[in-house]
Amino acid sequence: MGEVILRTNDLTVDFKVKKNIFGRPDRLSAVQSVNLEIREGEIYGLVGESGCGKTTLANAILGFVPITSGSFECFGHTIDASTKPSEWREVRKHMQTVFQDPYSSLNTRFTVWQIISEPLYIAGERDERVLRERAAALVEKVGLDYTDLDRYVFEFSGGQRQRIAIARALISDAKLIVCDEPTSALDVSVHSQICNLLLDLREEFGLTYLFISHNLSLIKHITDHMAVMYLGEVMECGKTEDIFRNPACPYTEALMSAILEVNPRSDRERIILTGEARSPINPPDLCRFVGRCPRATELCRTRPLPPPVQIGDDHMARCHLKGK
Ligand SMILES: Nc1ncnc2c1ncn2[C@@H]1O[C@H](COP(=O)(O)OP(=O)(O)OP(=O)(O)O)[C@@H](O)[C@H]1O
Ligand code: SF4
Ligand SMILES: [Mg+2]
Repeated sequence: MGEVILRTNDLTVDFKVKKNIFGRPDRLSAVQSVNLEIREGEIYGLVGESGCGKTTLANAILGFVPITSGSFECFGHTIDASTKPSEWREVRKHMQTVFQDPYSSLNTRFTVWQIISEPLYIAGERDERVLRERAAALVEKVGLDYTDLDRYVFEFSGGQRQRIAIARALISDAKLIVCDEPTSALDVSVHSQICNLLLDLREEFGLTYLFISHNLSLIKHITDHMAVMYLGEVMECGKTEDIFRNPACPYTEALMSAILEVNPRSDRERIILTGEARSPINPPDLCRFVGRCPRATELCRTRPLPPPVQIGDDHMARCHLKGK
């Protein structure tokens, strides 16, 4: 595995939501003090239930939502809430995205070559011949045909549209690709085709992926490292293999138990969580999982989460059960 190309340092994103009865805006804590490291050439998985902040974390790294506090280091730059737009643009040159829904993320008024080459157009390239040639060099790499270049996106299936989106992500030579649920809007039959394509392209173009997914089997299968989020916080992170084999935090354990069906030899039982998820609005300074955690203790109900504890060589967790 290569060098660290993205490191977040207590990265935090709050949204100001409607005013409370005192006339002050409530704080929705979407991402709280996240620390993770992504290495060159790896696939880094981000998992957690809906609303836990996966997309917001990715959006903060991509500059789509403002950082509230903390920072991240990427491609030689340190980005925080005060970073100037010109420096942001330098960092963004190295990143691209593949979104969940290829039906809404691609402009239906454009032809395939126009969609694929749009990042170059935005970067200032205006020569249509160059734009078309660069798009043409990529269509076959993503499993489409040269003759598809002049077709419109509405003529394609979901899987084919995602291939167009992937070609678009590659055209500007970005090295870090953020894939936010890239297969979940697609027919199950094309999931593995798109995943295999992403794996092949990683080899060929030396890419690194931040890969967000609800699909734990997929995360287990394709990622090298992963982070487990719950209500804005990273509960556990490290080598995917270690986390699946030896989950350290009760939330990860519960999450992993949901895929026992695919591992009938496991002696662990499925853990059904009860209790209501906390609101992310003005959360108290306690473990955010406390109301639903089957192993919560008095410490969890009264004291803030301890700092991350090293579980193994490359495996960290934040949990009172693992605290010193
Ligand atoms: N622009 C916004 N303004 C206010 N709140 C927001 C905004 N974007 C996201 N949120 C809130 O931030 C929290 C995290 O949302 P986010 O979309 O990042 O979750 P997610 O893990 O990606 O969920 P999913 O798996 O459903 O995509 C949620 O409580 C969401 O309602
Ligand atoms: S800190 Fe406590 S409540 Fe939170 S996951 Fe660990 S045991 Fe459960
Ligand atoms: Mg999301």
